[in-house]
Amino acid sequence: MNISVIGTGYVGLVTGVCFALLGNKVICTDNDERKINILKEGKLPIYEPGIYEIISDNYIKKNLEFTTDIKYSVKSSEIIIIAVGTPSNENGSTDITSVIKVAKDIANIIEEYKLIIIKSTVPPGTGKILNDEIKDIIKSRKVEIDFDIASNPEFLREGSAIKDFLNPDRIVIGVNNTRSQDLFKKIYALYFKFDTPIIFTNIETAEMIKYASNAFLASKISFINEISNMCELCNADVSIVSKAMGLDKRIGPEFLKPGPGYGGSCFPKDTKALFHMGKTLGYPPIIIKSTIDVNENQRIIAFQKIKNSVDKLKDKTITILGTAFKPGTDDIRESPSIQVIKMLNSEGSQIKVYDPLALKNTTKELNCLENIYYFKDLYDACSLSDCIVFFTEWDEFKNIDFSKLKLVVKTPNIVDLRNIFSLEEVEKHGFIYKGVGR
Ligand code: UGA
Repeated sequence: MNISVIGTGYVGLVTGVCFALLGNKVICTDNDERKINILKEGKLPIYEPGIYEIISDNYIKKNLEFTTDIKYSVKSSEIIIIAVGTPSNENGSTDITSVIKVAKDIANIIEEYKLIIIKSTVPPGTGKILNDEIKDIIKSRKVEIDFDIASNPEFLREGSAIKDFLNPDRIVIGVNNTRSQDLFKKIYALYFKFDTPIIFTNIETAEMIKYASNAFLASKISFINEISNMCELCNADVSIVSKAMGLDKRIGPEFLKPGPGYGGSCFPKDTKALFHMGKTLGYPPIIIKSTIDVNENQRIIAFQKIKNSVDKLKDKTITILGTAFKPGTDDIRESPSIQVIKMLNSEGSQIKVYDPLALKNTTKELNCLENIYYFKDLYDACSLSDCIVFFTEWDEFKNIDFSKLKLVVKTPNIVDLRNIFSLEEVEKHGFIYKGVGR
């Protein structure tokens, strides 16, 4: 099929590239010329394991094109996927301006039937707004052109997005007629063949499923973080609590790892958007609000833990290991470590930072702050440190050489905010160790 994907961020690019891999002719479109040029030069504007190989292969096969020309892209395709960003407004609500702008562009271009699929995360009701906007424009053009709007939210995790696209737990499709439903059956033909659960519903329900799924996962994290905070006060071990809880099939083992709180471009934004949505609808959701509050407080608890481990922060050297919001990505958006670094910095600490992938983004973000130093080597970053803080559970950290580490630090203090290590393992090397919830 001929598919046009508008927006080449994480979601758009992964979606376009994977549809090309499945044998479709895909045109990835973006108004950011720099991004498109990077892609045309065979480079990547994002870090995502596995994507480079698929792009190279399908570019050569001519299954994949990159362009800034939305007219060409829309005219060449029957299926148009909108995957542009939906950032937060100041009050937490979702800014759908870019989605509407793209829909209007499409309405001004189309000359024959198109299925317009919203892949961006948008509040329930957005599909209807787009439908009305496009209808109005077509009417004002004094032409008669048929089109359908559909919602097909994504459930891709950064760092494993290709795998998630190719092996989804489920596919959610919001449609309002059988014509678009039949087209989706063609688009996802392979998934139907392999019995992937596919849920057809109305557009509003599909839009809500995305927010509900992210908010539920975020709630699980905030829940276990609260239990973890309580475990510390009553001599219980949260790792064993999580494991035992997770063995109950109704609960499941995933997303029960405590830490400094969830980050990234999705959970913080989507939980706030859902809360705002509820308020607007006349039902401010209590659990969602608590999820957000617990998450924000978890950063303060992490900061306090570091402070307690060195007594006074002024003039102390703190090493931060891991600034990516999770392993496998260079993304630092809403990363708890960035916020805590700023707090430590404002208390007069000198910060040494190391991350295997996210150093470039971190330097850019913290550029304006003094007394922050960036290292390309983990042990150099730990040199003469008063406290080493593990923020991201990178594999590289799991294999750290504690004997070597002990030789370079000033004070043998470790704060492990991801429970990467066991107390016994670290203490036998002479470190004072603080994990979470244990
Ligand atoms: C999340 C969802 O997992 C995807 O299904 C969804 O498609 C995506 O958002 C999106 O909306 O686009 P992602 O933001 O890539 O994916 O990251 P996750 O792997 O879900 O992790 C989010 C945060 O939760 C990270 O900061 C991670 O460290 C934290 N986390 C996760 C925990 O603190 N504990 C856990 O047990 C699991």
